[in-house]
Amino acid sequence: MSSKGSAFDAKADANRGLRVGVVGAGVMGSNHARVLAGLPGVTLVGIVDPLPEHRARAISLVGCRAFADLDELFAEGVDAVTIAAPTHLHHEIALACITRNIHILVEKPVASTVEEGQDIVNAARSAGVTLMVGHVERFNPAVAAIKQAISGEDILSIGITRVGPFPPRMSNVGVVIDLAVHDIDLIRWFTESDIVEVQPQLSSAVAEREDIALLQFRTASGVLAHINTNWLTPFKARSVTVATRGKYVMGDLLTRQVTECFGFKPDGSYSMRHLPVGHDEPLRAELIAFLDAVRTGNLPAVSGDEGVASLEIAIRCLEQPAKPAASAARKGPRRVVG
Ligand SMILES: NC(=O)c1ccc[n+]([C@@H]2O[C@H](COP(=O)([O-])OP(=O)(O)OC[C@H]3O[C@@H](n4cnc5c(N)ncnc54)[C@H](O)[C@@H]3O)[C@@H](O)[C@H]2O)c1
Repeated sequence: MSSKGSAFDAKADANRGLRVGVVGAGVMGSNHARVLAGLPGVTLVGIVDPLPEHRARAISLVGCRAFADLDELFAEGVDAVTIAAPTHLHHEIALACITRNIHILVEKPVASTVEEGQDIVNAARSAGVTLMVGHVERFNPAVAAIKQAISGEDILSIGITRVGPFPPRMSNVGVVIDLAVHDIDLIRWFTESDIVEVQPQLSSAVAEREDIALLQFRTASGVLAHINTNWLTPFKARSVTVATRGKYVMGDLLTRQVTECFGFKPDGSYSMRHLPVGHDEPLRAELIAFLDAVRTGNLPAVSGDEGVASLEIAIRCLEQPAKPAASAARKGPRRVVG
């Protein structure tokens, strides 16, 4: 089947082979193409990029065909496309695919604005095509182990650290849109609840956009969460802690070690154990999940609505005016009436 077929036909056969294309031959798109080229039941039709040197790099890295524009890819016939072009182009490229009944996985963040993200969601829904958002961290086996460990627990608080050096190829976004959006998605996913309050502290120490962010949240279910992210740490670190009424779970997303403390006793003693963690490559697991959703017509693992909700919170963090300390001081100490 190709892009000329209907989304309904696409759901008819859960085992059929799929013709898949990739848009954007940069860092992420090249990884998508590498993984797709090795998946059973997938024909990697090619990768699209306007830059000849990026096309040449993809051809030599992956051994696939490369096209200068989307129409050349469409002409070959594709069932599904993964979109790893710069974020400001997601909207235009996603709509071009949806119009042709092509299922899409859109890299995170889903779009540059909530309105554009919502537009993609609405268009995919009315066309009946699968739309998944590339929040790849959900497919990190350490994250999956944490999610399993806290399942059914009464979650109290979550702390996430995602820090590292300034990336050499950063475009026009800061740490909130580039990094914290991963963790906003994790907080929403862990708690299965919406974020209802945000308290951001942002600073631009070296970069033009914010390169330090300390973000605090409260979910509708009452969980307190914070994200510490920056581009000022000389090494990469990614860690998650979750406190529940019955457990304290700690995960290192890079070494993939996940440990839980449990069995708290009144004398302060407790038990501790390392949890089993899988070995899957997160991007491979994500792309398999996307293609399964395309084949079966089931809801994808990360829906467009979830992608938009996380983007909305990230943008709210950027829009929230910081409270100047001086104004609090001017008001003087809070009076206790009595
Ligand atoms: N899930 C993750 O962990 C993760 C990590 C990095 C980036 N991303 C996301 O992936 C997307 C791409 O990021 P990147 O780091 O690979 O950027 P990149 O700059 O390395 O690659 C973008 C590529 O898109 C190409 N491009 C530009 N215009 C195009 C067009 N009209 N059609 C097709 N290709 C076009 C560029 O030439 C470039 O090769 C962004 O949305 C980013 O937020 C996600």
